[in-house]
Amino acid sequence: MSSEGSSRDRRSASRNALPPRSRIESLRLIETACWQELERAAREREHGWRIMTLATVEGEQAHARSVTLRGADAAAQRLVFYTDDRSPKLAQMKRNPLGTLLAWCRQLSWQVRLQVRLVQETDASLVSERWARLRMTPAAQDYLSPLAPGEPLTHPGQERGSREHFSIVNAEVLSLDWLELHPEGHRRALFSAGGPQWVQP
Ligand SMILES: Cc1cc2nc3c(=O)[nH]c(=O)nc-3n(C[C@H](O)[C@H](O)[C@H](O)COP(=O)(O)O)c2cc1C
Repeated sequence: MSSEGSSRDRRSASRNALPPRSRIESLRLIETACWQELERAAREREHGWRIMTLATVEGEQAHARSVTLRGADAAAQRLVFYTDDRSPKLAQMKRNPLGTLLAWCRQLSWQVRLQVRLVQETDASLVSERWARLRMTPAAQDYLSPLAPGEPLTHPGQERGSREHFSIVNAEVLSLDWLELHPEGHRRALFSAGGPQWVQP
């Protein structure tokens, strides 16, 4: 590559690069910041952690899918997402409630990997209250199909059923694995019942 080409590439890369962030030094503050960002992601559609990958295990087979973060509670160490009560993931988590949530935020340059215990919400009044808020929005469609997720169709398309299949899943966080990618050196820390710990990225 010519020297002109490579300097143009560098200029273009530096235009595209995000400004370097100041780095949090204390493990305690990093954990607090992670929860603040999770709470923000549950409110803000554009946050990088809003869509997470949820992995579950059935027998010897891993399953993974995207879910939308709907709630985060730092005090309770709990995340919340919604699903169709007929979805295979719900049956899988009832058989084996241990799962992993994974998310990457480009703006933060942070990945979180959370080991969780998945529990369906049983408080019927809480579920009704959340459904009452959701039912007037376009997202309500996701819980109104007469067919269960994964059922075969002859034509793709939306058919609206007469009853909802809305359910709430609580993900109780057992440990949080934080990874920061940074030009001056990547950092990783583990927050679990054993306490906070720096680990090799
Ligand atoms: C951006 C995005 C967000 C999604 N959010 C959810 C969600 O919050 N809850 C959900 O059940 N499925 C969500 N889905 C669909 C799932 O990824 C998955 O296809 C569906 O739930 C069936 O998964 P299962 O067969 O593992 O139950 C989302 C998909 C995408 C692409």
